[in-house]
Amino acid sequence: MFIPYAFEPYFHMPIRKIVKRVVDAEWVARMIEVLDRRSDNRMTELGMLSQAFEFVKINQVIGDYLEFGLWRGKTFGYAHRMKRRYRRNDMKLWGFDSFQGLPDTGEHPDNIWHKGQFACTREEFQVILESRGFKPSEYELVEGFYNESLNAATHRRFAGRKAAVIYIDCDLYESTIQVLDFVQSYLVDGSIICFDDFYNYKGDPEQGEQKALAEFRQKQTRVRVIPYMDYAPLGKSFICRMNG
Ligand SMILES: C[S@@+](CC[C@H](N)C(=O)[O-])C[C@H]1O[C@@H](n2cnc3c(N)ncnc32)[C@H](O)[C@@H]1O
Repeated sequence: MFIPYAFEPYFHMPIRKIVKRVVDAEWVARMIEVLDRRSDNRMTELGMLSQAFEFVKINQVIGDYLEFGLWRGKTFGYAHRMKRRYRRNDMKLWGFDSFQGLPDTGEHPDNIWHKGQFACTREEFQVILESRGFKPSEYELVEGFYNESLNAATHRRFAGRKAAVIYIDCDLYESTIQVLDFVQSYLVDGSIICFDDFYNYKGDPEQGEQKALAEFRQKQTRVRVIPYMDYAPLGKSFICRMNG
């Protein structure tokens, strides 16, 4: 039987490893994404990140990828795929998380969360990244609750860098406010901000990420945010423009 030469590396590999290689392969992800979109015309988180990376490529927006709210790295992994697909060797992937799950979730009309939800330790998270082929030079992690970790030392660590794509998936109004205050000075014309839970709480503008963005728009004049794309069940993205 003729077996193509390209399959030779798979001969001595355990089945489990072969399946994992195939599942993780870029072309498989691409095929699933295309089929998924064609099947019911939805744009998923992966689709959104693909659009965002293509947007910043077309528009030559230089900067890093910043994700706030990592849990087990699903969307961080998608961003890594896009970094490779669009050959953004210059782009560092920054992940910000407590690695202890959500903080105290406070009092809200529709409180659907609880403290400690989505906990995944830094060690567990790094094992996941390694299994997905992340190289240590491709990413940086900032550990801690945002009210403490988004501090002067983190600003110094980020000094001189810009944000091309920002992914906010930290669920809570309070967390999102802290994130927007932190990223403000790293935004440039064409930065994309994706809010994973923008339409949460049945779309209530008085809660969650939507409320945080409305307040951010009110309280500063440097950045204008232009609505870009809706995605998944609850997400929405924006393009940033700098005033003056
Ligand atoms: C829904 S999960 C993120 C899901 C992830 N993006 C994915 O693709 O599966 C929310 C994450 O936000 C983090 N988080 C929320 N508020 C935070 C805060 N104030 N400080 C640090 N981490 C926070 C939690 O630890 C949790 O990992």
